[in-house]
Amino acid sequence: MEKIQLSKDVSLSRIIQGLWHITDWNRTTAEHYEFIKACIELGVTSFDTAEIYGGYEGEACFGEVLKLDPSLRSQIQIITKTGINMKHPNRPYTISHYDTSYDKIIWSCHESLRKLNTDVIDLYLVHREDPMIDHEEVARALNDLKAQGLIKAYGVSNFDPFKFEALQAATGNQLVTNQIEWNPLVHEHIESGMLDVLQMHHVHPMIWSPLAQGRLFNPDNPKAVKVAAVLNELAAKYKVAPETIAFAYILMHPVKAMPISGSSQISRLKNAIAALDLKLDREDWYKIYISSGDKRLR
Ligand SMILES: NC(=O)c1ccc[n+]([C@@H]2O[C@H](COP(=O)([O-])OP(=O)(O)OC[C@H]3O[C@@H](n4cnc5c(N)ncnc54)[C@H](OP(=O)(O)O)[C@@H]3O)[C@@H](O)[C@H]2O)c1
Repeated sequence: MEKIQLSKDVSLSRIIQGLWHITDWNRTTAEHYEFIKACIELGVTSFDTAEIYGGYEGEACFGEVLKLDPSLRSQIQIITKTGINMKHPNRPYTISHYDTSYDKIIWSCHESLRKLNTDVIDLYLVHREDPMIDHEEVARALNDLKAQGLIKAYGVSNFDPFKFEALQAATGNQLVTNQIEWNPLVHEHIESGMLDVLQMHHVHPMIWSPLAQGRLFNPDNPKAVKVAAVLNELAAKYKVAPETIAFAYILMHPVKAMPISGSSQISRLKNAIAALDLKLDREDWYKIYISSGDKRLR
């Protein structure tokens, strides 16, 4: 599997496995272990989680797998995130809100390390834009964690170009990714110029919800029905699954993005991986781009 080098110390597999819903998969730790091992055997060695996933239980669920077989740790890269204080019975917050203060980032990182049963996080992300962000303070927290060897590299998620640039400047160009949403139903970060800013910085994005959380295949969603018609037409043309076309659409962009597959099924992960061997005709890329009806070419 192709690797994307994000920094001196961190390379990720081009296709990443997402663990957002790991606690909903109704699997034992041994079954999670089989799934993680199957991912690694396919070359998918990078795993994405976050402090808040699974109602703050997702990291621990993955951490149990790493405890079961500590030899896994050296074979994988762990990505996790901080910055959201989600309202939850186990937390004291009266509303969900953001907290990117120095103390919160440091505390969260130690909590994540403990739950994940590891002594280092490969890539640590600020999960969402915080309207109250203090760029210098965030940079100081992330640099301190890196200097202590607790994280190898850091970046952001869901940042717009202005907020990315502001934090990028405060960190002295240390942000190594922006994890953003992109699929044929959502083009926010193409519209905002985010992909252009990332290319300018030679920074590769991670892409969440490449299949729109499965909505691409929802027959009750009129825009998805239009998208699916194009994906199915191209699937027949290239003799692959429609999911493979959706992943190829992202992979073909010059920004060299790393899509995160969120499926719990190895068969669907294989469909994502198959996209690495597929090159769409340029016209086909544009067919997908305009397929939902939201985008017009002038
Ligand atoms: N940074 C952020 O703010 C953020 C936000 C959201 C997600 N993420 C990350 O990105 C990862 C991927 O996002 P995602 O989970 O939304 O990814 P996704 O790959 O777009 O969606 C995965 C979901 O789609 C379903 N699915 C796949 N193919 C399908 C089909 N043909 N028909 C019906 N359903 C289908 C899967 O069900 P099965 O499991 O049954 O295959 C699964 O529930 C997450 O796990 C998380 O790590 C980050």
